[in-house]
Amino acid sequence: PNPSILILPGDGIGPEVMTEVRKIISWFGDKRGLQFDVSEDLVGGAAYDKHGKPLADETMAKAQEADAVLLGAVGGPAYDDLDFSVKPERGLLRLRKEMDLYSNLRPAQCFDALADFSSLKKDIVAGLDIMIVRELTSGVYFGEPRGIFEEGNERVGINTQRYTESEIERAARSAFELAMRRGKKVCSMEKANVMESGILWREVVTRVSADYPEVELSHMYADNGAMQLVRAPKQFDVILTDNLFGDILSDCAAMLTGSLGMLPSASLGAPMENGRPKALYEPVHGSAPDIAGQGKANPIACILSFAMALRYSFDQGSEADRLEAAVEKVLADGVRTADLLGEDGVEPVSTSQMGDAVLAALDAS
Ligand code: NAI
Ligand code: MG
Repeated sequence: PNPSILILPGDGIGPEVMTEVRKIISWFGDKRGLQFDVSEDLVGGAAYDKHGKPLADETMAKAQEADAVLLGAVGGPAYDDLDFSVKPERGLLRLRKEMDLYSNLRPAQCFDALADFSSLKKDIVAGLDIMIVRELTSGVYFGEPRGIFEEGNERVGINTQRYTESEIERAARSAFELAMRRGKKVCSMEKANVMESGILWREVVTRVSADYPEVELSHMYADNGAMQLVRAPKQFDVILTDNLFGDILSDCAAMLTGSLGMLPSASLGAPMENGRPKALYEPVHGSAPDIAGQGKANPIACILSFAMALRYSFDQGSEADRLEAAVEKVLADGVRTADLLGEDGVEPVSTSQMGDAVLAALDAS
């Protein structure tokens, strides 16, 4: 059977950018013989409108079976006042939790044509290609005890940073596996100077590294890591870090590369019976209600998320390279959606024109 992809377009610009990705998926079927069984379902506000909850049980079951899930974005003003238990975000959180997607991959890659767009100097970011691996299912966002408690005559807010050895180990393995396919360097970031979980993190990562003698491991305190990311980001290949530090460091790295409309992500879990990891691919951006329905959204983040699926779920690294090169070519040719425009008076293209430009570049590849 063909590998399966479950598409969950979601809300706002999610369906708009996903339309372009569907064109790209068809192109790989028609022109490269990569056939996928593609099905589509609802998530977020769109699912709430139909089922009264942001992810139906049948959809959850389909996601568990799929070789890869591709998600657009969820949320929007129409759902802001809903009860927390049925908010659109909860659909996404349920997917991540029940699929146990513990390893979040956030590339920060700077396309030459957009280097002027970075918040940093061009020579600091030109050619940048790093990957942040963030542990996604544990740490301080989940640790118990948590809550706001009475203590004496005032209240105290408590969260607990908690990591087991096995949680650290599986995140570390995914970083080392990734480094083997890239520049063979892992920099692990924690705060072992002030945190017990950081001490254990460093110890376990060092132990796992013995299984990957080709990979060069270094350790860095996360606060210094933030500084180094902005000072000299090209020193890194793979950065491995926990849930909280990863949240912050990946947003910081994102700004090295320019627009939110360019950033893909992957969240991976344990291997399934067929050897493929449980996997969810999605752009980093949200549903962008301010531009939804206007054909202005940049589809590249979602297209590059599909490139990650080709690479990490379907073992099609050279086809992923082909797709990324097509995006690079389109940008080098000066094709720009509105979010990528400077002051040079270039006319922006629409979402579908950008998708078509990528298809044309694929045809020429
Ligand atoms: P956002 O990412 O949706 O938008 C932030 C800004 O970036 C907006 O000005 C938007 O127009 C622009 N932008 C985002 N993606 C773009 C693209 N592909 N092309 C061009 N411009 C783009 O974040 P915001 O405004 O904080 O949240 C809007 C809604 O999205 C909220 O309901 C929020 O909860 C939800 N959200 C969903 C996420 C997800 O589905 N993973 C992630 C972040 C927010
Ligand atoms: Mg964040």
